[in-house]
Amino acid sequence: MHELNLQNRRRYAITAWFYDILDYPWELQYRKWRPGLLHDVQGEVLEAGVGTGRNLPYYPSKSKVTALDFSAAMLRKASKRSSRASCSVRFLQEDASRMASLSSSQFDWVVAFFLCCVLPEQLQAQALSEFARVLKPGARFRLLEMKYSADPGIRKRQDFFAPFVAKVYGAGFNRNTLAHVEDSPDLEVTGTRYLKHDTYLLIDGRRKG
Ligand SMILES: C[S@@+](CC[C@H](N)C(=O)[O-])C[C@H]1O[C@@H](n2cnc3c(N)ncnc32)[C@H](O)[C@@H]1O
Repeated sequence: MHELNLQNRRRYAITAWFYDILDYPWELQYRKWRPGLLHDVQGEVLEAGVGTGRNLPYYPSKSKVTALDFSAAMLRKASKRSSRASCSVRFLQEDASRMASLSSSQFDWVVAFFLCCVLPEQLQAQALSEFARVLKPGARFRLLEMKYSADPGIRKRQDFFAPFVAKVYGAGFNRNTLAHVEDSPDLEVTGTRYLKHDTYLLIDGRRKG
């Protein structure tokens, strides 16, 4: 595993214990978005960076979700939360930028919320190429990421929180995920929209072919 990923995995071994408490103020917003962002996610689904399983209760009951995370501690939390899921869920401890244990062209969907803002910039292309590899041709993906705002007032608040976000979550507002997706030879962006201000970016797309 890449050294930067190893650092992040070590970080989440600790962060997992208080993740839901720390994230609660933001989750009050996210929980309003999650049902609407997952209602059409069906079939064989890979959720990459499942975290404590906040999305799991919202997948349609016929979905078959593979919940992937590299942190065993986060997966344990997600496993508890999966009792509230109506779909079937299996858990997989795996690095999203490698996914060595997953065979190609097996998923109808890849979902990743707030994963790419944790992934180091230099591993984004590799992770996206793995997303493309495990998706069936033409199958869809949905990414939700946070990014720096062009609004000076919002940016000031983000700059205030950035050291905390980096230390606790290993995350940053400075990732160029959309550009990496657009550069990917195997993925195609089908739509983007902001869920709030110009900071929470939803990226919809599909695997070419
Ligand atoms: C900020 S949390 C987001 C959790 C969840 N997706 C949500 O919406 O609440 C990021 C998650 O991605 C996981 N993660 C970060 N880098 C990863 C990687 N390279 N491979 C697999 N999981 C990773 C972390 O362990 C953590 O659980």
